[in-house]
This record gives sequence, C-alpha cells and structure tokens, in this order.
Amino acid sequence: MESATDYHHAKALLDWQIELGATEAIGDASVNRYEMPDKPAPTTSPAIAPAAETDPVTVARALAMQAGDLAALHTALAGFEHCELKRGARSLVFADGNPTARVMIIGEAPGREEDRIGRPFVGRAGQLLDKMLAAINLARDGDAKKSVYITNVLPWRPPQNRDPKPEEIAMLLPFVQRHVELINPEVIVLMGNISCQAGLGKRGITRLRGHWAEAYSTPCLPMFHPAYLLRTPAAKREAWADLLALQARLRASR
Ligand code: URA
Repeated sequence: MESATDYHHAKALLDWQIELGATEAIGDASVNRYEMPDKPAPTTSPAIAPAAETDPVTVARALAMQAGDLAALHTALAGFEHCELKRGARSLVFADGNPTARVMIIGEAPGREEDRIGRPFVGRAGQLLDKMLAAINLARDGDAKKSVYITNVLPWRPPQNRDPKPEEIAMLLPFVQRHVELINPEVIVLMGNISCQAGLGKRGITRLRGHWAEAYSTPCLPMFHPAYLLRTPAAKREAWADLLALQARLRASR
C-alpha cells in the first residue's frame, strides 16, 4: 500500500521537474539514455556509399518555390522534416488575419498559447498587439484596407521559448520569403530582433526600430516586439511613435 511518505516524495520530485521546465509527461517509464547505444546501428550495407547529405536550406527552397498558393505553402511546411523544432511542437502555427491585407506582420515564433491553439499571437503579447493595432484602426479581420496578416519566422514553438538557432532561421527563411511573395503586402512590420535578423540580416532593435528599411523586397518597419513592451512598459512611447509612422505611410499611399 502507498504510504504518505511515498506520496510526498513523488510530489517533491514532480515539483522539481516542473521547476526545471518540464511541461508534459511523455512516458510512464523513464529512459536511461546512458544505457542506449551512442549511434543507431547502420541500416545499409557498408559497401554501399552513403547518400549525399541533404542540405535543409536547399530542400526548403525547392519546396517553398513550388508552392503556388497559401494552402500549398502550408502543406509544404507541414511536409518539411529537417527542422527539429517540429518534433517538439504541438501545432504548425502558420498565420492569421486577412491574406489581402496591406500590412503583413512577421513575429518571431509561437509561444505556449500559440502552440496550444495553432494561431500566431494569441497569448499576452498577442493581446497587446491587437490593442496596438486597434489604436491605429487596424485589426486581423475586416476589409483589406483596415486589416493585417500575421505570421512568424518560425512556425513551430522552440522548447522553453528559447531563441531560434541561426540554422533554424536559415532553413525556414525560404518559406517566409515565399509567404511574403504570396501575400504581396504593401508594407511589412518586423516584430523584434529575430524578425529583423531573418528579414534584414541584422539585430539591434533599439537602433533599427522606427526606421523604414527593405526586407523580402518590400518596405518594412522594424518595431519593438509586444513581449518586450510587456516587460518594458517605458518603451511603449517609441512603439506608439512607430505605429503612427505606419499609419501615416498607409494614409499617404492610399
Ligand atoms: N511571439 C511571437 O513572436 N509570435 C507569436 O506568435 C507569439 C508570440
């Protein structure tokens, strides 16, 4: 019979794992990885030369280029097996909003809520983003003139929301590029450093923000990420200036 001590011991172990960042149980029995072979046994005869290494960026380019519409791009991403993030994520978070919008917003990567629900920017940062957009009369839905289209550089949530690795950004970039071509927006908003890294090849959002540049052959405006604004409310002042700059540009080219 289970004793109270067993219960408290098990509970303490569980709390400790949660503290370390465990978010879900994936098996009833633990796996002792020290007892596993270092490498999987070869499946082909050593006499047969191994196939040339597949370059994930080359595969991504070929898949993305072939996608003639958004549904095909979604399917191409879903079939892309070279990104480890896919295996740890629950959802492929593709996009939200109006595909005919004048403004395309490119964020970083799904967080926990986005991964759970399958839509970009639905957590706390997303709620702030919606309020920021509403302040200049933009929304996810509605007619093309007043709406936005939202996606991320990465469609899969990185574990523990860690920063994406450069090679992950590089292999997903062809999909972002094709996504922009298919939407063909008038302007792009690059939300935060990772988005600037992908679109402009540089970081330093504090210097980049508020200065119009060009990414994916389209005029773009780098802005502070709403998650940063939640942590640093004083920066909302600059974010407001950038929103007004976006509004002014949309009005000027109407
Ligand atoms: N942060 C992002 O950059 N994208 C999301 O979808 C959610 C949070």
